[in-house]
Amino acid sequence: MRVRVLGAGIIGLACAEELLVRGHAVEVVDPAPGLGASHAAAGMLSPSSEVWHGEEEILRHGMASLALWPDWAGHLGVPLATAGTLLVGRDAGDLQEVERQVGLLAAHGHRVDVLAAAAVRRLEPTLSARVAGGALLPRDHSVDPRAVVAALLARVSVRPVADATTPDVTVVATGARLPAPWTHLVHGVRGEVARARTDDPPARTVRGWVHGVPVYVVPRRGGEVVIGATSEEHDAPPVATIGGIARLLEAARELVPGLDRAELTEVLARDRPATAGHLPLVGPTHDPAVVLAAGHFRHGVLLAPLTARLVADHLDHGLVHAALDPRRLLDERIRP
Ligand code: GLY
Repeated sequence: MRVRVLGAGIIGLACAEELLVRGHAVEVVDPAPGLGASHAAAGMLSPSSEVWHGEEEILRHGMASLALWPDWAGHLGVPLATAGTLLVGRDAGDLQEVERQVGLLAAHGHRVDVLAAAAVRRLEPTLSARVAGGALLPRDHSVDPRAVVAALLARVSVRPVADATTPDVTVVATGARLPAPWTHLVHGVRGEVARARTDDPPARTVRGWVHGVPVYVVPRRGGEVVIGATSEEHDAPPVATIGGIARLLEAARELVPGLDRAELTEVLARDRPATAGHLPLVGPTHDPAVVLAAGHFRHGVLLAPLTARLVADHLDHGLVHAALDPRRLLDERIRP
């Protein structure tokens, strides 16, 4: 097939690369490749720490996609960090958030123990002595999404605008901004993040709550840490605010006091592409020539290899995953 992919973020590029590998002719269109939400993403491959109760379907897909990541990262030549995620609570109320995530995992057959403060600090000596406790999620990984996008861009060419030909199928992967008539299916949820450089990073992702403020600190090779993320529904273009970044940095420093001396290198904001119910839109529309791969909310990096496989399986074999089928949110009458 001749496939046009709109959007060169991690989702669009992953779909394009999978389709190329399967022998399709693929054109990717994006005026600013890799500079949307993928540019801000921390790259936590942690299915349980970003879902809430009632979102078990996302957890299942996250776990399925996590299982694809080691081979996919190997295929792309991008390193995975495999030391797991440490969930931590700063006070007793925050520890309840940890227990809630642990309960979610237990309900899916993954038993994880809640650890006392001393045990958590033995695992992660960079943590504050004031942390109340936590839990280690040993199966989680993390990856640098900018490295993934760079590896994909080396395999897939991207044009700023579409050429004059008509493809057999268009895959819409434009994140939080979908074209008509699908625009209303996805809305932006702003996430602000900071990056810093330190000699003393945590050994693994720290995902914590500090007096009710959620924060994560994701270490990269070479001493970079990504500190995220605020979460705010809004209509305006996303910008990093002094208040948002200050709250994040304060929470991160409360958990990992050594960050006080870290060099602040970057702040930025992007919109997460959110759907009603927070499940992505992966599959057909009522237009047989348009497939969606959008609305991945907090899970775009994690779900990239699974999404690529689902889109390619749909185009190759007509397979549709009912829970992700975009038509669940589309009025039958919406036809371009
Ligand atoms: N998954 C990270 C975030 O959305 O902030």
